[in-house]
Amino acid sequence: MKAAYIERTGPPENIIFGELAAPKPADAQCLIRIAAVAVNPVDTYIRGGMIKMQLPFPFIIGCDFAGTVAETGPRVRRFKPGDRVWGSNQGLLGRQGTFAEYASVDECWLYPTPAGIGEEQAAAVALVGITAHLGLVREARLKRGETVFVNGGSGGVGSAVVQMAKAIGARVITTAGSDRKLELCRKLGADFVINYKTQNVETELKKLAPAGVNVWWETLREPNFDLAVGGLAARGRMVVMAGREARPPFPVGPFYVKGCALRGFVMFMATPEEQRAGAEDINRWLGEGKLKANIDRVLPLSEAAAAHRLQEESTIGKSGALSGKIVLKP
Ligand SMILES: NC(=O)c1ccc[n+]([C@@H]2O[C@H](COP(=O)([O-])OP(=O)(O)OC[C@H]3O[C@@H](n4cnc5c(N)ncnc54)[C@H](OP(=O)(O)O)[C@@H]3O)[C@@H](O)[C@H]2O)c1
Repeated sequence: MKAAYIERTGPPENIIFGELAAPKPADAQCLIRIAAVAVNPVDTYIRGGMIKMQLPFPFIIGCDFAGTVAETGPRVRRFKPGDRVWGSNQGLLGRQGTFAEYASVDECWLYPTPAGIGEEQAAAVALVGITAHLGLVREARLKRGETVFVNGGSGGVGSAVVQMAKAIGARVITTAGSDRKLELCRKLGADFVINYKTQNVETELKKLAPAGVNVWWETLREPNFDLAVGGLAARGRMVVMAGREARPPFPVGPFYVKGCALRGFVMFMATPEEQRAGAEDINRWLGEGKLKANIDRVLPLSEAAAAHRLQEESTIGKSGALSGKIVLKP
């Protein structure tokens, strides 16, 4: 099969697009004929060696996928050949990735693709959707009627958080770095948008939420805790999930006096049951049209190296080139 893989960690040029043997589905695994995959920043950290993980070389890159079950292992109970499925959390913790024509995936990481939802949509919403769900539901315990601030609402994670917070019934304020991206955030359902490049976020937030926001979702790799804690309401919850190297100052006094909470998590450490709870809501919201994948562009899988470079330049280099997900098709 054709696959995008690496023989050693390093820059995007290390990604080889070539032939590898197709995997066989063992035990509770399904062999998936991949129709679409999506790039996530974590893919680039793993490929680059920034996140140290045991990698089975040749290592097929990528976490997200959507496709069709081609074959099932002897212990598979929930799926059969021909079923359309999507999922994430591959290419992590010793597992092979998904950027190939076929992938063997344990059925605990597979979810049915809703009727009427295409593979590009399903792949693009996978990791970011489950991340948004874990953060809003498990960590922040967001309630209907609360106000959520999303710092970075047009990005992969941010665009899922904006839509999901609206689906839960919250009021959403978000930031973006250009008029075009602000418009995208409005289309995703944001009630109020702030241009972080031309407006003062602190001042605008004070006008929009004078008593503070109930949930602050930070997508930035270097959070400004003075700004965030200042913007939180009493008993507000802040979600952090990016920036492994970040060591910013933290305003201890204002934080505890307001009774705030800080919740951090990494999606790929969530259990299969926790991830499936998110996937079930995602499927329902996809079906109801309350959640749509935010796809920036679709490329052939042979462009995997270029896609990694673009993702890296946009997320780490802050080039702003992307507004959403890169989807690749084998
Ligand atoms: N913990 C986890 O489980 C988990 C899961 C997924 C992702 N992550 C991490 O979360 C981060 C975001 O991922 P992503 O896929 O959403 O990346 P992304 O698509 O590149 O989005 C980055 C976002 O940051 C915004 N941004 C940049 N500078 C900003 C500023 N000064 N103020 C406000 N917003 C700013 C961008 O807005 P503009 O484009 O408008 O400038 C964009 O919306 C990455 O570091 C990723 O590794 C963690």
